Amino acid sequence: MRRITVLGVGYVGLVTGACFADLGNQVICLDVIPEKIEKLKRGELPIYEPGLEEMVQRNAAAGRLTFTTEYAEAISNAEFIFVAVGTPSGVDGEADLKYIRSAVENIAAHLKSYAIIVNRSTVPVGTGDSTAQTLIERGKKQGVDFQVVSNPEFTREGSAVYDFLNPDRVVLGSVDLHAAEAVADLYRVFTKNLMLTDLRTAEMIKYASNAFLAMKISFINEIASICEKLGADVKLVAQGMGMDARIGAAFLNAGLGYGGSCFPKDVKALTYMAEVNGLHPQLLRAVMDINRDQRRRVILHLRELLGNLRGKTIGLLGLAFKPNTDDIREAAAIDLAHMLANEGANLRAYDPVAMENAHQILDGVKFCNDAYQVAAGADAVVLVTEWNEFKQLDMPRLYASMARKIFLDGRNIYDPAEMRAHGFEYRGVGRPLNGAPHETLQPNDAAVAIT
Ligand code: UDX
Repeated sequence: MRRITVLGVGYVGLVTGACFADLGNQVICLDVIPEKIEKLKRGELPIYEPGLEEMVQRNAAAGRLTFTTEYAEAISNAEFIFVAVGTPSGVDGEADLKYIRSAVENIAAHLKSYAIIVNRSTVPVGTGDSTAQTLIERGKKQGVDFQVVSNPEFTREGSAVYDFLNPDRVVLGSVDLHAAEAVADLYRVFTKNLMLTDLRTAEMIKYASNAFLAMKISFINEIASICEKLGADVKLVAQGMGMDARIGAAFLNAGLGYGGSCFPKDVKALTYMAEVNGLHPQLLRAVMDINRDQRRRVILHLRELLGNLRGKTIGLLGLAFKPNTDDIREAAAIDLAHMLANEGANLRAYDPVAMENAHQILDGVKFCNDAYQVAAGADAVVLVTEWNEFKQLDMPRLYASMARKIFLDGRNIYDPAEMRAHGFEYRGVGRPLNGAPHETLQPNDAAVAIT
């Protein structure tokens, strides 16, 4: 049993705290926002994350997981202090480190005995070194010893608990091997793939991994645009590519582009780090451009099908940046809502869990109770987030209620031939506009057999 403190109760911090408590460790989670801590003390979560609420309640009830807003209480007795505070984008795309600085100041002010500071927030390469220096200097004056370990997180929202408990790898960067080994011991139960390296390399592994995944998405989205023009079907192209073990099938789903709290921010921050060091990160810039274009293409399709969008009623299915989360940061739906509002369209939207968050930042959108209410009387429906409840919609019912029968499938979850058979003017992303040749093949044809 170790004494662990986690600073920040967002997706990363709360999952880290709950999972370590579940292993039997004594965990204190701190946040500076009192409402969040009050909620947690009542057993409610400030965020939506499948599986987390039950885990938090169970460990809180067992007395292994507590919550506080007081640094003195959280820091003074800790063996490990995990920093999981936000690092939002600054004006030029650089990571804004104000929350990290404040956390470091407070750690230095309250620590009474040796502790290992483990940074899980995504920070610019080099931050660990400077943090370590600040803390070690402060510690010397106070007679307290600190070590700093960088431990980037690779958990996806929506499956963060699963990802934490089943990591592909755990990366630990430090100048102090003993400190890195001590943190490694906390994780050994989850995986044997523990990588110990220096601080800067660990920080870079996080950026490079996220940028690579974002690049895969932008790559397949560019291929999708070419497919659309040439009459090929990107879903099958991705499937065919993904069978090559060197390429891999993951993150090759063409769609409306990536969103969320990590990819947009991290690709921007990596670009910034390269630029301020005199480099020209052309690939990273292209990744961001293509992602922006994916949203714009929806508007182009709608204009082509409906003409001027002023006064047209457009329905958005899904607001979260991906399914199983209430997070709308950098979500395609939010970009689309702004663009469509600029075009003068009337907007309706529905999302199973993200409407409360969307309500706070979107004006003039009619929030509906379900997908059918979104579609009733609409000129076009755009499927933005592939929630399970949108995967088996009653299409004849949807069709009957719409004014114009336009369905833009931004995540390619429906079969184009079936949608056209229902009577819809259907468009996916990177799928032939007038039906693919393979749609007319007989069932014993290879292309159909693998779909
Ligand atoms: C990501 C990383 O996966 C995770 O390792 C890191 O720690 C944090 O950032 P997350 O942002 O939660 O996780 O979501 P992820 O599932 O990776 O999806 C990111 C975005 O890419 C979503 O908007 C999703 O819709 C989009 N995406 C993903 C695609 O458009 N196509 C794909 O094939 C995969």
